[in-house]
Order: sequence, then structure tokens, then C-alpha cells
Amino acid sequence: MEELMCSPHGLFVTGTDTNVGKTVVAACLVQAFAADYWKPVQSGLTLSDDSARVMQLTGVSTDRVHHSLYGLQAPLAPHEAAHREGIQIVLNHFRLPRSERLIVVEGAGGVLVPLNEKHFMIDLMERLSLPIIIVARSSLGTINHTLLSLSVLRNRGLTVSAVIMNGPPNPANRIALEKYGRVTVNVLPWVCNLDAKSIKILMNIVNSTAFVDSINLHRIIST
Ligand SMILES: Nc1ncnc2c1ncn2[C@@H]1O[C@H](COP(=O)(O)OP(=O)(O)OP(=O)(O)O)[C@@H](O)[C@H]1O
Ligand SMILES: [Mg+2]
Repeated sequence: MEELMCSPHGLFVTGTDTNVGKTVVAACLVQAFAADYWKPVQSGLTLSDDSARVMQLTGVSTDRVHHSLYGLQAPLAPHEAAHREGIQIVLNHFRLPRSERLIVVEGAGGVLVPLNEKHFMIDLMERLSLPIIIVARSSLGTINHTLLSLSVLRNRGLTVSAVIMNGPPNPANRIALEKYGRVTVNVLPWVCNLDAKSIKILMNIVNSTAFVDSINLHRIIST
């Protein structure tokens, strides 16, 4: 299927699962591209808030972090968290916030997480029409999860810019993903303690010429 035209105004960071490192990757991308950040649907506010985490990791000011359209308390998939608050998530209410800067958008969970009775996270990706970064684990199981995510996104005609494998080194899985997924795979190492010093190391990796060139973000920005 032919790929749909992508908007150059941002990137959509999805993952093969919840808790794979989307927020950490998004923070690195915000830093590398002097970008804004937006988490359109945040569930689990009782436990954590990705927008606050990105501000903490990057030190960017509040004006670079756009408000979530849906902020839901329960640490559940959005359709269920919304249902418990008597809220209906409406797909056509989502619009990319206006900004002169690139916007790094972080999804909730993975590609087929439901938003409501009819729509899934992939429908939001299609609506925003941004190039997509898939964050994947490096460990056993990642080939299956990542190839499934790639397949669903491509069947919809969406553009996947790159996969970012986040975790302890696993060169065999990287090679397999590049081979079977026909996609660029970048690697972000796992650090023992994600503090100010180690996040700088991760940010420098994402900001390196090789990393940036390989996911073609320059092309996206200058389109
Ligand atoms: N490269 C890394 N090195 C060390 N710790 C990491 C790394 N990447 C992520 N983590 C840690 O793993 C946990 C999950 O990461 P993160 O919150 O970025 O996942 P997520 O995919 O955004 O989750 P969610 O689905 O809740 O949005 C966090 O505690 C984070 O600090
Ligand atoms: Mg997150």
C-alpha cells in the first residue's frame, strides 16, 4: 500500500507496549530537536504524568509542553479509564497544537490500544498524519511485537521512520528487525539509574549525527 503524505510538524512516538520507554525516547527527541511535547491521552494520572516527567528530564519550560486533551486518573487503557469517569474520547476532537517548533507526540500504550468503542490509537496516528517512531524492547519477544506493530501501521499506509530499541544490547534482535521489518533500527542503551547525568548521555546519543541521519528527521523537518 502506498504511504500517506506525512505532516512535517512533528513525530508520533508509539511503542510495542506500555512501559517500553516512549517517554524517555520522547524526552531525548524533544531535546535533540528543540521540539515541543504533547501527550494527547494520558491515563494513570494517579500514578504518573508523562508531561511532568518530560519537563523534569529535559528541563524545558511549560510553554513547550502542551496540555493533554484527555487526562484520566485510572492506570488503565484509555477507553476503560475514560469510561470509569463517564468520559467519551472523541477522535475528531484531536488537533495537533499550534507551534513554530516540531512537536513530539507520545501515544498511550501501543498501536491497537482502544480509545473508545470504535477507535484505536492507530486512528489517532492516522488523523495526525505524523511520521512514526516505534519504541521497542531489546529483549526476547521484541521481534514478534515489533513486526506486528510495523505490519499494522504499514497496512494503514502510515510512515514508520524508525524503530528505537531501548534496553540492554541485543545485536541479533536488531539485525533481525532490520532484516524482517525492512526498517532502520536505532539502539538506546539501558542505564542503571536514570538521573540527570545518565539522561544527558542518552540525549547525546539521540542527538548524534548518525542517529538523527538514520531516522531521516532532517528530511522531515526541512520538507
Ligand atoms: N534507556 C533507559 N535506561 C534506564 N531506564 C529507562 C530507559 N528507558 C526507560 N527507562 C525506565 O523505564 C520505565 C518506563 O519508561 P517510560 O516511562 O519511558 O515508558 P513508556 O513507554 O513511556 O510508558 P507509558 O506506556 O506508561 O507511557 C521508566 O521507569 C523509565 O525511567
Ligand atoms: Mg510514557
